[in-house]
Amino acid sequence: MEKLESSLRTGSAEFAENRRKMKEEVDKLRGRIARAREGGPPEARRRHTERGKLLVRQRIERLMDPGTPFLELSPLAAYDLYDNDAPASGLVTGLCTIHGREAVIIANDATVKGGTMYPMTVKKQLRAQRISMDNRLPTVYLVDSGGAFLPLQAEIFADENQGGQTFYNEAVMSSMGIPQVAAVMGSCTAGGAYVPAMCDENVIVKQQGTIFLGGPPLVKAATGEVVTAEELGGGDVHTRISGVSDHLAENDEHALEIIRSVFANLPMPKKAKLERTTPEPPAYDPEEIYGLVPWDTRKPYEVRELIARVVDGSRFHEFKQRYGTTLVTGWARIHGYTVGVLANNGVLFSECALKAAHFIEICCQRKTPLVFLQNITGYMVGRKYEHQGITKDGAKMVHAVSTAQVPKFTVIVGASHGAGNYGMCGRAYRPRLLFMWPNSRISVMGGEQAANTLVQVKQEQLAKQGKTLSKEEADAILLPVLKKYDEESSAYYSTARIWDDGILDPLETRDTLGLAIEMSRCAPIPDAKHGVFRM
Ligand code: COA
Repeated sequence: MEKLESSLRTGSAEFAENRRKMKEEVDKLRGRIARAREGGPPEARRRHTERGKLLVRQRIERLMDPGTPFLELSPLAAYDLYDNDAPASGLVTGLCTIHGREAVIIANDATVKGGTMYPMTVKKQLRAQRISMDNRLPTVYLVDSGGAFLPLQAEIFADENQGGQTFYNEAVMSSMGIPQVAAVMGSCTAGGAYVPAMCDENVIVKQQGTIFLGGPPLVKAATGEVVTAEELGGGDVHTRISGVSDHLAENDEHALEIIRSVFANLPMPKKAKLERTTPEPPAYDPEEIYGLVPWDTRKPYEVRELIARVVDGSRFHEFKQRYGTTLVTGWARIHGYTVGVLANNGVLFSECALKAAHFIEICCQRKTPLVFLQNITGYMVGRKYEHQGITKDGAKMVHAVSTAQVPKFTVIVGASHGAGNYGMCGRAYRPRLLFMWPNSRISVMGGEQAANTLVQVKQEQLAKQGKTLSKEEADAILLPVLKKYDEESSAYYSTARIWDDGILDPLETRDTLGLAIEMSRCAPIPDAKHGVFRM
C-alpha cells in the first residue's frame, strides 16, 4: 500500500494557532472528565467508603485483567444537566477484558444520589446493553442503586427505551447466548431487583447487598409488616432461602473475585476472522493532528493529512481518487486490521454518494469493517444538483450505510449537519461506536443557515401581506437562533445526552478504533444483503 505524502506546513502560523486552540480544548476536556470521575460529593464518598465499600472505579479496576485498557463510554453523560448533580449520570459503563474475554461493564455509582437512575442513567445503561448485543459481549452489572430517581419518574418509567427496556434487553441478550453476571453490592430495589434476577449468575455481598421489589417503608405502608432490609432481602435470605442469588460474598473484593471466577468458566468467543497484519504506528506524528484541524468547522482542511496520522504506516490504498473528490475512500490498516475508510473533504455531491455506495458494497462483500471520519455540512443543494437527482444518489449512499452489516465506526472530526450526518453513518445508522472530537459541531444545519432560513420564511409570510421585515425584527429572529444553535451543537451538549459514546482527545482516536475493532470480532459478520437501490 502506498504511503500518503504530507504537505502539512507545521511551521505555519495557522498550524501554531490550531494547535494552541486544540490543546486548550483537550485540557478542558480532561478537566471535565476528571471532575466527572470523582463521582458524588466528598461527604457521600466518605460515607460510602466508611461502610467498607469500594468506590465504583476501584471495583471496576479490580474486576478487570491487570494492565489491560478500560474503554470508558460516555464519561460526560448528564454533563450540565440536573444542576450537575449526576456526574457521569451516576453510572460507569465501558469495555474491558476479564479473564481474557472482552466484556461490557455497567456499574452504579452509589455516591451520586444513592446511585438512582436519572433519564440519562437509563439511556446510558440501555446504550451499554446495545453495545453488548451488537458485539455479543458478556456483560457484568455492579449494582448499587436506589432505583428510579423519583422526581423524574415520568421521563424514565413507562415508555419504550426507558426503564423497563433494561430487563427486556436482559432477556433478549440471554436468548442470544450472551452471558450476564451481576454483583449486588448495595441497594437493588423495585424494578432494579430484576437486574440480578435476570442474569445467568449473581453474587450478593453479606450485610451490604439487598434485593427487594419493595423496601421496608413500602412494605410497612402496604401491609403493616415491620421488617428490616436485611431480613427482607439481604444476602443470607437470597442465597439460603429465596434462591434469588447464587453466591454469598464476604465483601466487595470477594464479590469481584467470584465474578472473575465465573468468567474463567465462560467459553471463549469464536471471533470473526478479519484480515490482519503486524501493526505499525503512523509514519507521520499523530500529535500533528492538533495543528492540522482548524477550530472553526467551516474552514476546510485536507483529510488525507488526518488519515496519514491515524492509520498504520500512513499507508492508504485510495479508491476512485479522481471521482467525487470531496469524499475520500480507500483501504488502510488500523492496529493491523484492514478497514475501509470514508472521509469527507468537502460537501457531498451525487458522484460522492455513488462512490460511497460502491465502496461500501465492496467492503461488505469482503467483510471489511468501515471507519467514517465525519466532517460534513451536508449534500449539495440547488437547481442543477436536484435536476441531476442528488436525492436519489444520496438515498443510495444512505441505503448502503444502513444495510452494511460489517462493523461500522464513526468519529465526528468536524461538522455533522443535515443528511450528511446520515450518509456518513451518524448515530441512527448503528455504528458499533461513535465518538466526537472536542471541536466538532452537530445539528440539523449550521446556526447561520437555520437563522437565515427562519428570517427568509418570515419575510415571505410578511410579503404576502404587503409588509416587510425591518432590520431590528430580523435580528430579533436571528440572534436567539444563533445563540441556541451555538449552544446545542457543541460536542458537550451531544455527549451529555448520549448522542455519542464520548468525546475523544484526537490523539486517542487510533487506539480507540483499534480496541473497538478487536471487540467487534466477538460477533459474526453476516453475508452482505442490501435492498433496492433507486437507480
Ligand atoms: N429518588 C430520588 N432521590 C433519592 C432516591 C430516589 N429514589 N433515593 C435516594 N435519593 C437521594 C436522597 O434524597 C439523597 O439526596 P441528598 O444527597 O440531596 O440529600 C441521596 O439520594 C442519598 O440518599 P441517602 O439515603 O442519604 O443515601 P444512603 O446511601 O444512605 O442510601 C439508598 C441510599 C438508595 C439505599 C436510600 O436512599 C434509599 O433507600 N432510597 C429509596 C429507594 C427506593 O425506594 N427507590 C424506589 C425506586 S422505584
